[in-house]
Amino acid sequence: MIAARASTAAWVLLSFTALACSHGASPGAAGPERAARQGPFVVKPYLQFGEAPRAGELAVVWHADDVDAGWAVDVRPDGESSWRPMEPPKFRRVAVAGVEPHRVYRATLRAGAPGGRFAYRVRDGKGADFEAEALAPKSASQPHRFAVFGDCGAGTPEERRIAHRTFEEKPDFVMIPGDIIYDRGRASEYRTRFWPAYNADRPAPDAGAPLLRSTLFVAAAGNHDIAARDLAKYPDGLAYFYYWCQPLNGPTGPEGGPLVAPVTGSPEQKKAFLDAAGEAFPRMANFSFDYGNAHWIVLDANATVDWADPAFRRWVEDDLAAAKDARWRFVCYHQPGFNSSRSHFDEQHTRVLSPVFEAGKVDLVFNGHVHNYQRSYPLRFAPTPVQVEAPAFDENGRMVPSHKSNGRLTLDRSFDGKDDTTPEGVIYIVTGAGGNRLYNPEQQDDPSSWQPFTVKHISRVHSLTVVDVDDSKLTLRQVSADGEELDRIVVTK
Ligand SMILES: [Fe+2]
Repeated sequence: MIAARASTAAWVLLSFTALACSHGASPGAAGPERAARQGPFVVKPYLQFGEAPRAGELAVVWHADDVDAGWAVDVRPDGESSWRPMEPPKFRRVAVAGVEPHRVYRATLRAGAPGGRFAYRVRDGKGADFEAEALAPKSASQPHRFAVFGDCGAGTPEERRIAHRTFEEKPDFVMIPGDIIYDRGRASEYRTRFWPAYNADRPAPDAGAPLLRSTLFVAAAGNHDIAARDLAKYPDGLAYFYYWCQPLNGPTGPEGGPLVAPVTGSPEQKKAFLDAAGEAFPRMANFSFDYGNAHWIVLDANATVDWADPAFRRWVEDDLAAAKDARWRFVCYHQPGFNSSRSHFDEQHTRVLSPVFEAGKVDLVFNGHVHNYQRSYPLRFAPTPVQVEAPAFDENGRMVPSHKSNGRLTLDRSFDGKDDTTPEGVIYIVTGAGGNRLYNPEQQDDPSSWQPFTVKHISRVHSLTVVDVDDSKLTLRQVSADGEELDRIVVTK
């Protein structure tokens, strides 16, 4: 992994001067917010990578009232009887219009031996105690399992059913390829549409599951997460940058440049956002990490980013080259370049980096944005020069003109993931059936409507992708909320 930049300056070291504080309702708190909170937590603890992850470590993040409360975190590895105190948590203050001011706390968990079970607890100075169990990140010599689903935080029954099925599959981590939260990436929307489903106290199809507290979550930012950048309209928007705690090691640049669209609003709104986001904005939009024997790149594929920018392209090339020891290479971003659905078909701007993925020996690319499941043949794509343009969107996030990307497509039709398990090229997976309304169900049984690169198109049921990664073998399954296997391929090296 490219060295992660340490960035703790923006986090305020927690004061242990415990002041008298009330966990009761605060003036001005909105109804749904109050309904979501439990005990001293505005949002219960959830597991993240951290801004500069190190082997054997995870981050735990939680939200609490904007008062000093003597928070502390302990870890107890499996087989040990006593708790080990962790370093004092740090916090950033979120004081934006639209939600009650609150603090986002973060502490590092030294989780212990790779793949080992550990317990952790988060305590306040008044005796409240939250405890959960999780697994330490796996090492390169250990098999691991991850789950992928996008377009999920819509507040639907299907979102909760997919959350529950994910919990049943027991992944080591969950990857969300964007559109984490609808409709505008707002803190207030996370309160009602995200935390309740993925951090439910009990696992049940109609409730969701206690996933976030027990399973590492990683996410790419989709258009519904970070494309609405007018704080005058959505003052608690862009919450991705203050609620997620992910590696800060990717390419970035100035606002208004090729990689970072301007954030608008009054000076006060802008300051409140930047204070809440700290160094996560804008850098956290792109990053890379290692898990087990795999290397991952997570990219911002929103229309506001110029994927043809030479510096952006060079970063992806260099990052893949630096991951030469990784057995597997995965890339995740929101907008798919290879999509057969009528919905979002014109958005093909991400195809411009296909040759980079091929040269960097990427095995699988995971996308969302299109609310169904699609698997491509292993493919190579040589874009025709000058035909890839950055697409334009109206203020509602809808694409305006057509920006199809032409080029030369080479398909490995002999790969079937069963008898032939050695793909020639990159396999592109659309897995955006995580909760929101499905797209183009009429196309599932109409292969004549699919593009030549598509081999599977499941658009009538919500589903998630489950991948088992071993040293020389990978098994990908697409699973419905009921546990039905909809697709399966094996890839071997
Ligand atoms: Fe989307």
